[in-house]
Amino acid sequence: MSKPVSLNVADQKLDLTVKYGTIGPSVVDIAKLYAQTGMFTYDPGFTSTASCESKITYIDGDEGVLLYRGYPIDQLAEHGDFLETCYLLLYGELPTPAQRTDFNYRVTRHTMVHEQMMRFFQGFRRDAHPMSVMVASVGALSAFYHDSTDIADENQRMIASMRMIAKFPTLAAMAYKYSIGQPFVYPQNDLDYTSNFLRMCFAVPCEEYKVNPVLSRALDRIFILHADHEQNASTSTVRLAGSSGANPFACIAAGVACLWGPAHGGANEAALKMLQEIGTVDKIPHYIARAKDKNDPFRLMGFGHRVYKNYDPRAKIMQKTTHEVLNELGIKDDPLLDVAMELERIALSDSYFIEKKLYPNIDFYSGITLKAMGFPTSMFTALFALARTVGWIAQWKEMIEDPGQKIGRPRQLYTGAPQRDYIPTHMR
Ligand code: SDX
Repeated sequence: MSKPVSLNVADQKLDLTVKYGTIGPSVVDIAKLYAQTGMFTYDPGFTSTASCESKITYIDGDEGVLLYRGYPIDQLAEHGDFLETCYLLLYGELPTPAQRTDFNYRVTRHTMVHEQMMRFFQGFRRDAHPMSVMVASVGALSAFYHDSTDIADENQRMIASMRMIAKFPTLAAMAYKYSIGQPFVYPQNDLDYTSNFLRMCFAVPCEEYKVNPVLSRALDRIFILHADHEQNASTSTVRLAGSSGANPFACIAAGVACLWGPAHGGANEAALKMLQEIGTVDKIPHYIARAKDKNDPFRLMGFGHRVYKNYDPRAKIMQKTTHEVLNELGIKDDPLLDVAMELERIALSDSYFIEKKLYPNIDFYSGITLKAMGFPTSMFTALFALARTVGWIAQWKEMIEDPGQKIGRPRQLYTGAPQRDYIPTHMR
């Protein structure tokens, strides 16, 4: 639904259109603004800009609501599993039992990577950050799968989507195994998606590996929480890369690169390092003071969010999962958890954080949980990327299949030197 509006800008009366969504803020369509006024809008960081129309995920930052295709995240995390969430994000509806069986089969049949990918890993130092390996190896997939890079072909788009969702865990497990000098473990297709990933990470050839069902369920739920999140920085990167017609593997590699930043998906690694640096509860006031000090670049990692100005609904579920995992592993008094709980309590009662609406986000607790499961800190963002791959793919497909889609090409406010003539070297 839409309605015409007029806007006065610099003595000009503009006839624009307001478009209404199903829920959430409406938008003013400014596509004709430059043609009508010769002016651009200006919104670095896109705090007030809708970059696209989407039917996939909706966030209400004030109410702390997150919906995947209309279903609340807490219900999906409670009752569903990650592959069901993948189907929902890709197709828009929860699968019937038959659709679920077919989808599982299709994903499972793509879990292996080309054998030559192993040689690709040998080129990295063992201490390479897993995200550097993931950016490279995901991009390298486009060198192996030329039969699914024609984005104009619907079948090729779907095969590329299946390959990406199925192979990301295999590559992430290979990156981990390579970093610790252990042999790669092949996927085992009679295991569910997340159990298969745990086995590829932690099994060794010399003994039987039994998946702990509580840990597998917890990690599967963590993947659900991280699967998609509207037009966040890495998803916007994937959409912009895809708008040029780049192949899906290259677009996902661009998303992996963007997610790596500590302000985004790298925050789970940074948050755990921050908790380790704080070390004990008595040091918390010092770090709170640093976070509030304008002259100190320190920020409380795992706190704050561009959209959530209320508690991140994922963080609540994450906190519950953390306690489940620590109990299952018999970890009674994890000092990091003590620091995290006390930091959260103090921050949520501190006027600075209340005024700026800074609540714990999903990254605040995920690190404690993943560390307890046995993952090194350096693998945390790779696990985030594993889960977000389906969101990136679903958003990429939605963009490619939008008949009005065109290459993204923002403009700028130029404040550099006006035109001037070249000065010969001897006259400078
Ligand atoms: C993710 O976009 C998504 O959806 C991302 C994500 C997803 O699923 O894709 O949810 C995943 O990236 C979660 C966020 C993880 N990042 C962190 O935890 C890093 C720490 N958080 C901050 O860097 C920050 O909160 C951001 C980047 C998350 C949001 O930054 P904004 O929206 O640009 O807000 P801002 O930087 O303008 O901050 C507003 C104010 C500032 O103070 P003033 O300049 O107004 O005086 O709040 C302050 C900031 O200094 N502030 C913080 C703070 N975060 C913001 N102060 C202390 N500690 C913090 N963590």
